[in-house]
Amino acid sequence: MRLHEIIKILTTDSLSQAVKLRIELLGLNPLDLIPILSENPTYHLEIFQHKLSLLHKKDKHHVYVDFGSKQLKFRSQAHLNAELVIKAVLGKKKQATTIMDCTAGFGKDAYIMSLTGSKIIAYEFNPLMYALLKDGLNRTEIDTIILRKKNALREIKNTDCEVIFIDPMYPATKKSAKNNKEMTVLQNIIGHQPLMAEDLFIQAKLSAAKKIVIKRPIKSGFVINQKPTSQIIGKSARFDIYAQ
Ligand SMILES: C[S@@+](CC[C@H](N)C(=O)[O-])C[C@H]1O[C@@H](n2cnc3c(N)ncnc32)[C@H](O)[C@@H]1O
Repeated sequence: MRLHEIIKILTTDSLSQAVKLRIELLGLNPLDLIPILSENPTYHLEIFQHKLSLLHKKDKHHVYVDFGSKQLKFRSQAHLNAELVIKAVLGKKKQATTIMDCTAGFGKDAYIMSLTGSKIIAYEFNPLMYALLKDGLNRTEIDTIILRKKNALREIKNTDCEVIFIDPMYPATKKSAKNNKEMTVLQNIIGHQPLMAEDLFIQAKLSAAKKIVIKRPIKSGFVINQKPTSQIIGKSARFDIYAQ
């Protein structure tokens, strides 16, 4: 790599002062985000309507975390008990529990699960995703989601949560990315993680958790070919449930 390319990667000049300040407020070093943004030049990080936001430069669409969005309000009010993730994680008793969310992403599953009164310890290892989610959480009064900027793989075995929830990245399909800007961001920024589901599952099985729930694309096989104890099946995704 040439010197000017290295300098371009390491410089934070592409970030506005407001963005740098916001990132520092989140407990991050703006430099941590530069390599990710340099690799994804179609996105620009900015403050949009007070939110840390990723602007898609071509289609001018903003992606940010907003727990007050219409979509989440709809899911959380009238339809909470119909949520497949809740059925999978809490089972029939619907009793609040403690959940380790190994793959926080935009925090939607964590949020929906937290509405049951459950305590969520959420992990996100990508600094940009962590920044967006932490910023979204900071704009709410939610205190039942504890977000950690760590690799869940290293923590999962020693968790004292009752349930382990895993929703890793899968290969992109035309349908999944179409009209879903958040999915497109995840696919561009994180990409497919071919072995993550297996690795997290293997570590989860070594933990004392009572239940492991893995979100899977509807047509995919079982992780490490292991048949689940039960399943909750939706239109595009399913939840494989392993009792331990
Ligand atoms: C498919 S997304 C999760 C979406 C999330 N369930 C939601 O509701 O928004 C997967 C996320 O998990 C993160 N991730 C994957 N493996 C991880 C690990 N071992 N530790 C922490 N975060 C991880 C990725 O960076 C990505 O943001």
